Amino acid sequence: MDIKSVGVIGAGQMGNGIAHVFAVAGFDVVINDISQEALDKGTGLIRRNLERQVSRDKISAETMDAAMARIKTTLKLPELGQTDLVIEAATERETVKSAIFEDLQPHLKPETILTSNTSSISITRLASRTDRPERFMGFHFMNPVPVMQLVELIRGIATDEATYKTLLGVVEKLGKTAASAEDFPAFIVNRILMPMINEAVYTLYEGVGSVKSIDESMKLGANHPMGPLELADFIGLDTCLAIMNVLHDGLADTKYRPCPLLTKYVEAGWLGRKTQRGFYDYRGETPVPTR
Ligand SMILES: NC(=O)c1ccc[n+]([C@@H]2O[C@H](COP(=O)([O-])OP(=O)(O)OC[C@H]3O[C@@H](n4cnc5c(N)ncnc54)[C@H](O)[C@@H]3O)[C@@H](O)[C@H]2O)c1
Repeated sequence: MDIKSVGVIGAGQMGNGIAHVFAVAGFDVVINDISQEALDKGTGLIRRNLERQVSRDKISAETMDAAMARIKTTLKLPELGQTDLVIEAATERETVKSAIFEDLQPHLKPETILTSNTSSISITRLASRTDRPERFMGFHFMNPVPVMQLVELIRGIATDEATYKTLLGVVEKLGKTAASAEDFPAFIVNRILMPMINEAVYTLYEGVGSVKSIDESMKLGANHPMGPLELADFIGLDTCLAIMNVLHDGLADTKYRPCPLLTKYVEAGWLGRKTQRGFYDYRGETPVPTR
């Protein structure tokens, strides 16, 4: 199937990055969110990120203008119905995602491919609640989308070969690299990454190290480009907790128990960069560790 237009649901960190790379690659993009503020913030961020790419000679000013012209926004989910490919990138909660697919379904073209950017939720289960499990896939982009090279492709048990091949072609058109993962909780990247982040939070919780010493240890001692707590703030602590819960429930192994301190931060609304406070406080000029 030749994909020309793409609907993106959710204009948060991931949705705006996904819209950005698709528009630069020449696809028409419609972004939907439940909040006008999120849509405005998302498109403002896309513009700023494109401007940065122009200033670094990564793309031309003409490419930027053409990309911005290809992006439309809407609060009305049915307006995504005529697109060839839908990428759901809303909050990491199964009930939210299932309700979106249910509401969208009656408005879709029969051939439209449905995908979810979920970090951890079962693709087979999400697909089974739609009218097209054979044309449903996990399409997992990494954060920040314009920078990160990898896209995980996850087939549900019913996904057909044509859908998989179509998405492989789309990834190629975006200039990114696909890795195929089986449909098990959190797939490949987050199955490995999230327990490490959770362990870093336990290390903080048990007083083994401070925020600064934990992050510096992993940067200088393990050559990680970012410390695990800095990375958790970047991903969003609500998303990290949601993924740990999916691992814990889905694999029924206590080694995936979310750290109580991570739960407490989320309960406080300290979700990381997006709320200006997480393991670091981002309200000043430079991030300040909170412990
Ligand atoms: N943050 C990461 O590093 C990362 C990486 C890969 C994948 N993901 C996944 O991407 C998805 C989105 O994560 P994010 O970090 O962008 O979250 P976010 O909190 O930044 O954005 C979520 C957006 O979804 C919108 N939303 C909520 N309910 C909606 C609905 N019913 N309809 C339309 N929009 C709705 C919210 O208003 C918000 O703008 C999650 O499934 C997450 O697991 C996140």
